[in-house]
Amino acid sequence: MSLANPRDLLLQQLSELLWIERKLFFEIIPAVHDGSQAPELQQALTSHREETRTHCVRVEEAIRSVGAEPASAASLPLEKLKEVHEENAQQITHRVLRDVFHCGGVVRTEHYELSCYDPAIELAGALGHKECARLLEQNRDEDANALKKIEKLAAKLQDQLPR
Ligand SMILES: [Fe+2]
Repeated sequence: MSLANPRDLLLQQLSELLWIERKLFFEIIPAVHDGSQAPELQQALTSHREETRTHCVRVEEAIRSVGAEPASAASLPLEKLKEVHEENAQQITHRVLRDVFHCGGVVRTEHYELSCYDPAIELAGALGHKECARLLEQNRDEDANALKKIEKLAAKLQDQLPR
């Protein structure tokens, strides 16, 4: 994709976001869910997966709202985060420690998502694409909430670790 103007850049950002949300929905969240043990963590992942389904739809709508057809473009940073997380998770044999590690992976991913939403929201706003910015803000706010929830849960699980 050529980046000749600000709209091209916005579309590139939106395409990465669409890929990220789809990858989380179809692959990453289910894998972390199945690799974790604490019922609270599994529940948190299940409910965030439901939100993520909506996030995919909103990003698609956001792309249409700027007059383009939804297309996704691979996010190499997320791919790498996933790869490194999986490698490290396999090394952890302690059940609670692995759950804490998974929480850390979720926190990192939410931060990465937020770091992709913020510039896209700024650019959509600057270009006058209000509907696009509004849709992205909804996703960003839900991801920010998910981040807070998982941080709390991580603190709770950490209390159960052997000292
Ligand atoms: Fe999200």
